[in-house]
Amino acid sequence: MERILVIGGARALGAAVARRAVKDGYDVVVGARDLAAAEALAREIGARAVRVDLQDESTLAAAAERLKEGVDHIVTTGSAPHDVRAAGLDRDRLVAAFTAKVIGPMLVAKHFAPVLRPTGSMVLFSGVVGRRPGPGSLVKGVTNGAVEFAARHLAADLAPVRVNAVSPGVVDSGAWDRLGEGKAALLSRSADKTLVGRHGVSDDIVDTVMWLLRAGFVSGETIHVEGGARHTSA
Ligand SMILES: NC(=O)c1ccc[n+]([C@@H]2O[C@H](COP(=O)([O-])OP(=O)(O)OC[C@H]3O[C@@H](n4cnc5c(N)ncnc54)[C@H](OP(=O)(O)O)[C@@H]3O)[C@@H](O)[C@H]2O)c1
Repeated sequence: MERILVIGGARALGAAVARRAVKDGYDVVVGARDLAAAEALAREIGARAVRVDLQDESTLAAAAERLKEGVDHIVTTGSAPHDVRAAGLDRDRLVAAFTAKVIGPMLVAKHFAPVLRPTGSMVLFSGVVGRRPGPGSLVKGVTNGAVEFAARHLAADLAPVRVNAVSPGVVDSGAWDRLGEGKAALLSRSADKTLVGRHGVSDDIVDTVMWLLRAGFVSGETIHVEGGARHTSA
């Protein structure tokens, strides 16, 4: 049975990946900075839990030590948005955003390199904003762009372990629930900016992640799952 660690696995897309991976027969470890949340989901779906905070390297080292018997796949969904224009940048939040998306996954690679099985893979998370610049999405855009390069270079560094990224469009993953009534408008606007006329759902992303785990001839790639949004001018 292949083992998969899902970082950011306690909620939204990470939790959806963890749930599907259990159904598909993987030995799942839910990694989250909130260990109680990870344990609650793990109990519900029949998985294990481990504390992983992408902003705290010591938790990455400890998780790798706990899983030293071997890991086949690592999916990392972490993000720490800082949605301001350049004049509003806060250095600490800027660093945190890069750490969640880029530096953290690179340190995951550092600590898990001795543990990852050679037939395994890592899946990082980018996002469509990386290819669609706009006011207020500076940090999200640059960090998502950097994820694409991180996947490419980590793939060369960790080979034969494969490293890829998924770049979602706007997905109703649960993350947008915080907008309350504004969520429907956001999803509708985002649907208008695609070629397929709808917003994304969690299964669109989970299907892609599960395919990447098995796609043994795909490495260093970013798979865009956004209904063609970056090909429209809307
Ligand atoms: N949903 C979309 O429309 C969309 C669009 C484009 C790209 N994406 C990307 O897809 C990924 C997943 O997004 P999502 O929709 O599932 O919602 P999200 O709210 O962006 O999820 C982020 C996940 O990362 C975790 N996380 C944040 N900081 C962390 C840290 N320091 N250490 C470990 N985990 C941390 C969060 O856990 P906590 O519970 O601890 O906060 C949460 O599970 C993100 O990278 C996001 O940028 C999503």
